[in-house]
Order: sequence, then C-alpha cells, then structure tokens
Amino acid sequence: MDGYTLRHKEPSKKDFLDTADFDQSEIVDIIKTARTVRSFIKSGGYLNSLYHKNLAMLFEQKSTRTRISFEVAMEQLGGHALNLAPGAIQLGAHETIEDTAKVFGRMCDMVMARVDRHESIEALAKYSGVPTINGMSDRVHPTQGIGDMITIFDNWPKGKRPNDVKVVFVGDATQVCNTICEISTKLGMNFVHYGPKNHKIADEWLEIGRKNGERYGGSAKWSDDPKDLEGADFLYTDVWYGLYDKETPKDVYMKDFYPKYQVNDEMIEATGNENVKFLHCLPANRNEEVTDSVLDGPHSLAFDEAENRLTAQRALVLYFGRVAQMTLDYIKEQQDKK
Ligand code: CP
Repeated sequence: MDGYTLRHKEPSKKDFLDTADFDQSEIVDIIKTARTVRSFIKSGGYLNSLYHKNLAMLFEQKSTRTRISFEVAMEQLGGHALNLAPGAIQLGAHETIEDTAKVFGRMCDMVMARVDRHESIEALAKYSGVPTINGMSDRVHPTQGIGDMITIFDNWPKGKRPNDVKVVFVGDATQVCNTICEISTKLGMNFVHYGPKNHKIADEWLEIGRKNGERYGGSAKWSDDPKDLEGADFLYTDVWYGLYDKETPKDVYMKDFYPKYQVNDEMIEATGNENVKFLHCLPANRNEEVTDSVLDGPHSLAFDEAENRLTAQRALVLYFGRVAQMTLDYIKEQQDKK
C-alpha cells in the first residue's frame, strides 16, 4: 500500500473521542494522511478539500497548541474555525451543553472541544450529530497521541521493529500518559509508565495496553524502578500539577515527584542510549518535570512534536470530514503531473 491509498476510505466511527475506539489500521491511515498532506503543503502545494466547511472549537480549558493547530489546519484546507468558550457564548450561563451541541450541529460541519469532563465531549458528539473531535478531556488526549506517533515515526530508531521500541512515560499519569499507553502499544511498541505508586497509571489503561500487546506484539507496564529507564528509545513527560481545576499544591507534587522523576541529564544517561529522544506535550514547567538542559538540548523533539499537532489536525479534519482519500488522490494526481 502506497502513501496515497487508505485502507479505510471512510472512518469506522463518526467521532474521534479516544484512540482506543480505532484499530491499528485506522490509526495508521490517519498518520499516513497526516504525513502525505504535510509533505505536499511543505513543498508549496495548496489544498481546498474543506472549502466552505466550518469547525466549531469549544475550549473549556486554556490552549495554545490545540487551538492554533486546528485553526491553522482548517484555514490551510480551505475551511474556517470558530474559537468559542464558555463566557463568550451562552454555554455555562443560560444554556446546556446538549442545546449548545444541537446549535453547533445546525450551523457547523464539525466540532472540536477541550472539555473539563469526558462526558461533555460524549454529549457534544451525541447531540451535535456532526463529527466531533476530542481536543483533550480529563480521560484522554487523542489528538496529542496522533501528533506524538507522527513525531516518533519521523525519528524512528534505525533498524528497529516496533516490538523493539521502548517508550517510557515519566512522572504523573495524566490523560496524555493514558493515550500514549494506548496508542504506542496499538502500534506495537513497549510502554512503561515510570512514576510514583500514588500517581500510577490506572490498571484499566495497563489492561488496554496488555491487550494491544497480545494483538500487536508490544507490552505495557508500570514501574518505579530506575532500571526500567534502561534501553528507552523515547522518554516522555508531562507537568506534575495537573491541568484541571483541582490542581495539586506545589509542595505536595514536588514531594511526590522531585527529584526522582525529573527528566534531567542524569536520567538521559540512565537510559544507556545515546540516541534516546525526549518528548513533552507542552506546556512545560521548566526545571520541575524537565530541566532546561534536556528541553533545549540535543535529545529534545518537543518543538517538532508541537509542530506535529498541526500535522495531525489536518489529517483528523480531513479523515473525519470524510475527504481524506479524495485529498490523497488529488495530491497523487498533482505529483504525477510533475
Ligand atoms: N499539548 C497541548 O494540548 O497544548 P495546549 O494545552 O497548548 O493545547
């Protein structure tokens, strides 16, 4: 199969709420679309696949990368994105999420939302009736997961098969940790959550990772033993305080995580892999979960990873907008003319 042919011409589900809802071949289709469209746009190509299509974007939480990447993706594909938030619209004051969703569905072609509670993204999907993309909930961060897997494929360890690749997520078991456990094992890699026992990834996610391992050959485990850093190909971390309302006080989280779970030069050394790569979903609390020397150093892919949020969002709006194969056919036609 070439880079222009998808196994799934249409998505198997209307909405993209969790990577766990999709099998490996469909995740690969999304990643393939993302990388092919990125090459085309970077080489000066123009696309209009989402001409006259509108994406309603609802943010119940702050965002830099998710907001910019969806807005830029829609514009680059000929469409438009509306940036909406409680306080700026009637939601949260006089109107329910269900009624808000119904209005989105009457006026817009797709919805993307960052929500406080996962049930809200499910309600938006159900009541809008249009394709709905989860821009992060308290449970998962699936668009981050797609961008991160693109970054991993872009920096694949030479000569390794997926089952030889080790991804170690360090620190707090955030929603990003849940998604990386799910999607890395779905793509056949070995996942370790290295963190303190009182912030351990939920057994539910380890079970999902183990089942992916049975099907695709990778593995999933939790550990607080530094030996499990050995042989890591990718070290990933996220903030320690949580991004939601009930943020952990600094003295509590520092006691739980610092210094053992800080990604610093010693931790890079402890992997024993001079080619280990560092990932961070950002924003970072510099010199807490990661030192400046690592975030700005030669192992870091954090800003490539940020850029790949855009790479991922283009594919997601094309795929769930049901124009991905059509777009790849068009790109192939343009390339063949050269
Ligand atoms: N990683 C991420 O989702 O970044 P934002 O919160 O800035 O969107």
